[in-house]
Amino acid sequence: NYYAIIMAGGIGSRFWPISRTSHPKQFIDILGTGKTLIQNTYDRFLKICPKENIYVVTNEIYTDLVKKQLPDMGDDQILTEPVMRNTAPCIAYGSFRIESMNPDAAIVVAPSDHLILDEAAFVSAIEKSLKVATENNCLITLGIKPSRPDTGYGYIQYTDNSLENDFYKVKTFTEKPTLEIAKTFLQSGDFLWNAGIFVWSARAIVHAFNQYLPDMHEIFADSRPVYNTPEERNHIHKTYQQCTNISIDYGIMEKANNVYVLPSEFGWSDLGTWASIYDLAEKDYVGNAVIPAEKVIMYDSSNCMVNVPGEKLVILQGLHDFIVVEANNTLLICPRDQEQNVKKVVADVKQQF
Ligand code: GDD
Ligand code: MG
Repeated sequence: NYYAIIMAGGIGSRFWPISRTSHPKQFIDILGTGKTLIQNTYDRFLKICPKENIYVVTNEIYTDLVKKQLPDMGDDQILTEPVMRNTAPCIAYGSFRIESMNPDAAIVVAPSDHLILDEAAFVSAIEKSLKVATENNCLITLGIKPSRPDTGYGYIQYTDNSLENDFYKVKTFTEKPTLEIAKTFLQSGDFLWNAGIFVWSARAIVHAFNQYLPDMHEIFADSRPVYNTPEERNHIHKTYQQCTNISIDYGIMEKANNVYVLPSEFGWSDLGTWASIYDLAEKDYVGNAVIPAEKVIMYDSSNCMVNVPGEKLVILQGLHDFIVVEANNTLLICPRDQEQNVKKVVADVKQQF
């Protein structure tokens, strides 16, 4: 009864120029491991459920990329969205489909673009959560001990009221707080980051949609009798754009009162920035990280992050604390502490982008 939904419709604009609207981060081998992030995500879920039970929800423009990178997936397991509406509709699509087929299902929902270093710990955390979600009809999220007041995450405050071992009742869920608030959360010590990985019974999530996002519930409930038919696709393609553009975090997790958190540790990173890649990458003794490690010669250079795939020979002389990235015929050279500005650059060159 275990199912997985992989969310793969985001555009990952922070990883420009490697990540582009036409080829976002989840479809890239961003760490040089030989597999793309979505392929790694899929492989992890193969350890948890049969391959027929793994679904990908993505924008229709990425269908071919998904098919190419995950050739074992059946067409009926790739759910496509005609427009981007953030994660709530994406999760509704996948969850209602699974619930129509198997009302007793337990589902893990995960982003397609995260790094997980300790796969064994991940698999055991998910299996434990699937079991607890099945038995208690609740919404479970995985929590990570925060290391900085990052404003790009959801924060979970939990009580010591626990369900079985290790699953704590969530007191507050705050999606993307301001820096000031994030700092107080960090100081208080009883907050975790939301990893964006959710586990619930099909019943509990359908119920939550009914309660907190009833418009979406109506749209997807209408497609239940015709699930996995051309009628379903037609219905969804006609009605999808009516869905509110909202994330599952704002739409449901902040509001529901049956949310539990499993504090987890499995070498998680959401690979949100070049800095996060740099942190994880193997570095030489002066702190240079080169991915993939080819054709780069450095003299008197330190703490640089270099990612120039292909045949080009790269030579750095006297360069310190820089990001040097080439992709899609675009070369980005930027001090490591100014990478936040890349977002603005991307906006400026949007025409070509
Ligand atoms: N199918 C589909 N459709 N997928 C989407 C869409 C969409 O419209 N929008 C985003 N996604 C996918 C992204 O590709 C990514 O894999 C995942 O859903 C999460 O979306 P993000 O846009 O990356 O969310 P976030 O990083 O801002 O915030 C979420 O993740 C954080 C941890 O990384 C939240 O859950 C936060 O609370 C959490 O801390
Ligand atoms: Mg993210």
